[in-house]
Amino acid sequence: MADQQVRTGEDRRPTEIPAIRWEEPPEGPVLVLLDQTRLPAEEVELVCTDASALVEAIRSLAVRGAPLLGIAGAYGVALAAARGFEVDDAARALEEARPTAVNLSVGVRRARAAHQAALASTGDPTAAAVATLAAARALHREDAEGSVRMAAHGLALLDELLPAGGHRVLTHCNTGSLVSGGEGTALAVALAAHRAGRLRRLWVDETRPLLQGARLTAYEAARSGMAYTLLTDNAAGSLFAAGEVDAVLVGADRIAADGSVANKVGSYPLAVLARYHHVPFIVVAPLTTLDPDTPDGASIEVEQRPGYEVTEIAAPQVPVTGAGGGIPVAPLGTQAYNPAFDVTPPELVTAIVTEAGVVSPVTAEALAALCTGSCQV
Ligand code: MRU
Repeated sequence: MADQQVRTGEDRRPTEIPAIRWEEPPEGPVLVLLDQTRLPAEEVELVCTDASALVEAIRSLAVRGAPLLGIAGAYGVALAAARGFEVDDAARALEEARPTAVNLSVGVRRARAAHQAALASTGDPTAAAVATLAAARALHREDAEGSVRMAAHGLALLDELLPAGGHRVLTHCNTGSLVSGGEGTALAVALAAHRAGRLRRLWVDETRPLLQGARLTAYEAARSGMAYTLLTDNAAGSLFAAGEVDAVLVGADRIAADGSVANKVGSYPLAVLARYHHVPFIVVAPLTTLDPDTPDGASIEVEQRPGYEVTEIAAPQVPVTGAGGGIPVAPLGTQAYNPAFDVTPPELVTAIVTEAGVVSPVTAEALAALCTGSCQV
């Protein structure tokens, strides 16, 4: 944590603290993050002065969610360039910080390419740093614009699939403004339905083990005035059986060329439940999440997280008792299986909603057509 300064002062804005922003105080440029590990208890900013602080913030999930990881990665390269650090080293470390969300390497590579091109044409490191920051800002802006279009496409799809209206939507993990330059992906669709008066209920999976649903999605839903109800992940089955779910909306960390979707662990069981109960399972993701270079689901690297995230409940304010510093909920020494993501095969996905339109049914051909000239650039 050496290079991270934690700011908790009254200078924070009471609402809508942006998930990420670039600032240029006299001491030099910084990347300011909303520390998502501290939500919902408090909104605390984390100030990164170099790429290694950002790598640590990415690993600890202070900054998280596929689209935001891409934006953060791009700004991280810009930070290295602006502060005169070795850009290639910083880019490599950032890209390797987490393996599954392809957006991270897309953002890093885009910024690095801008740096290389500007350096080659001008030979001036300052001009190259300016060009790198411009590339990061462009990605940030494009993500915000894409989120508006995803919300519109997603709501139109919901209205088409569920003509009776009064949508009851189940979501998993967190896919709103905390993961995006704009209002997000799946949660942006739910928010659009809410604003249109067509969201009857947002069912929020708590999303074990790190509780992105309970801590973050419920936080965003409450702030937005949505009618939401929190459930434990394993209560979803009984909710489907009771006929209380009209659609599932989730995001994605990587979509392979064949349409396999890696997303927060627990998404695949929801897709199986949805199919059994004849409920649409809809994935909402920007084109930067489509990865034509990953052929299928088996080729997606799924991040394995430390076992203590399962064997302990995080509670930094209590005395350290277990390996991760939280409250043990299993005997000490218990082994845990803790993949951060799972992979849903394309045949269980009703539709993939992107800013460029909707793919349904999900086929390699339809995704390739959508990608032409725009994915991974
Ligand atoms: O481990 P996280 O919190 O980074 O996982 C995030 C998710 O799985 C999201 O569902 C995914 O990134 C899509 S966000 C639009």
